[in-house]
Amino acid sequence: MSQRKDTLLSPQIIQAQKEAISDIRIKNEEQYSLGAPRKKAFVETYGCQQNVSDSEILMGMLAQMGYEKTEQKDDADIIIYNTCAVRENAELKVFGNLGALKHLKAKRPDVIIGVCGCMMQQKENADQIKRKYKHVDLVFGTHSLYYFPSLLKDVIMSDTRVIDVRDTDGKIAEHYPLQRAKGPCAWVSVMYGCNNFCSYCIVPYVRGRERSRSKDAIVAEVEQLASSGYKEITLLGQNVNSYGKDLDEHIDFADLLNAVCKIDGIERIRFMTSHPKDISDKLIDTMESQSKICKQLHLPVQAGNNRVLAAMNRHYTKEEYLEKIDKIKAKMPDITLTTDIIVGFPGETKEEFADTLDVLKKVRYDTIFSFIYSKRPGTPAATMDDVLTAQEKKECFSALLDVQDKISYEKNKALEGKILSVLTEGYSKTDSTVLSGRTEGGKIVNFAGSDECIGKFVNVKITDVRTWSLIGEIIE
Ligand code: SAH
Ligand code: SF4
Ligand code: F3S
Repeated sequence: MSQRKDTLLSPQIIQAQKEAISDIRIKNEEQYSLGAPRKKAFVETYGCQQNVSDSEILMGMLAQMGYEKTEQKDDADIIIYNTCAVRENAELKVFGNLGALKHLKAKRPDVIIGVCGCMMQQKENADQIKRKYKHVDLVFGTHSLYYFPSLLKDVIMSDTRVIDVRDTDGKIAEHYPLQRAKGPCAWVSVMYGCNNFCSYCIVPYVRGRERSRSKDAIVAEVEQLASSGYKEITLLGQNVNSYGKDLDEHIDFADLLNAVCKIDGIERIRFMTSHPKDISDKLIDTMESQSKICKQLHLPVQAGNNRVLAAMNRHYTKEEYLEKIDKIKAKMPDITLTTDIIVGFPGETKEEFADTLDVLKKVRYDTIFSFIYSKRPGTPAATMDDVLTAQEKKECFSALLDVQDKISYEKNKALEGKILSVLTEGYSKTDSTVLSGRTEGGKIVNFAGSDECIGKFVNVKITDVRTWSLIGEIIE
């Protein structure tokens, strides 16, 4: 057994959840057999791919209980918000949306309203819901996800409010049902939690300590995906380069990638997120040598100034980061590089911010994900003082976008006229008359085509480009 036993959820707990699923299903089916319409579940997800993946588990459990998925809140018999705590505006949105459900609950008291995820893992937020949002029936934190069936059963059978926020380092549960989004691409969690405690970040507090799934469990899941027709997988973790450190088995992330590359049917493998301090030569060599591993890397730099990086507790300097990027580019010249940037970290000056712009110009990322610093109570940075005003931070932020938008456009422009292999995911979310897919580098391409292309690789000639996407036509 390569999985450490103390991180695995006990078989008794899993059995109790199966029984709760079955009890709810029997109750629902009794009502269906009397002619009641099928019950519907609406799950809204905020935040990162980890939450998207957790919502797939929630939806999987709900499907086994006899609920159908709906995209319309007003139709739903159960509404769940899976929340994110990474920035204040994500939290405000959830409180706003929850407030708006008061009317729905008044009109249809039988609707069950639940809130879960990272925000609820913080006691203050859960308490606020308990006190001020009395129309919410169920509140549970990230560590209670696997207990969802028994929590929901308590709400349904005893008609009481249920609040479950438990303080633990976190567990792993295998063989939970998943209802994945449609399409040829799937997310596969390889590890949970984070041990890095970057000084601005709430994630380690709401997601617990790093814990890796066993290689055997991951390989079995990917084999299953391959046999169901999935073509692309993204291995997921807050810091995938720490994979395996907590396992009894001697294995690292590069070894895991090599194992997954052997699985027939899976043609593209991506992963996120990588921490710059942990990215090893072995990983870079593995990326270069395995043709299934997409030449795409998301390597969050956060800031370009060494004093700021130290205050952020990032454990690398600007020079060390750029050295790693040079090494990666030397081995994979066409690699797509993306990053995360925080503007206005407490104490950051305009001169220090200029170092971030310098990193952008030196690396020439394809895309950046940038955020104005948001104070997270309980993190070390929350007690640090600002130098820049809110207005100055906004100005820095728009200067950042000006520099990056130009680079993103130029990098896309260089692809014009090229023929790229695109995995078609479906119709475009913004224009349902065109198909949308991704290149190996993860760039979105929109092109004309028919249903038959969905789920398949097609060769697309790039005819025009935008800052955020490419436009092309299929080449037979
Ligand atoms: N584990 C990943 C992702 C963490 S959250 C990583 O380390 O890269 C995603 C991004 O949100 C972070 O990379 C960071 O840029 C941003 N972020 C985290 N905390 C923030 C805060 N308090 N204010 C603004 N942005 C923040
Ligand atoms: Fe947050 Fe840092 Fe962990 Fe990423 S590595 S989740 S930014 S603490
Ligand atoms: Fe947000 Fe939680 Fe992800 S705080 S970014 S949803 S791990």
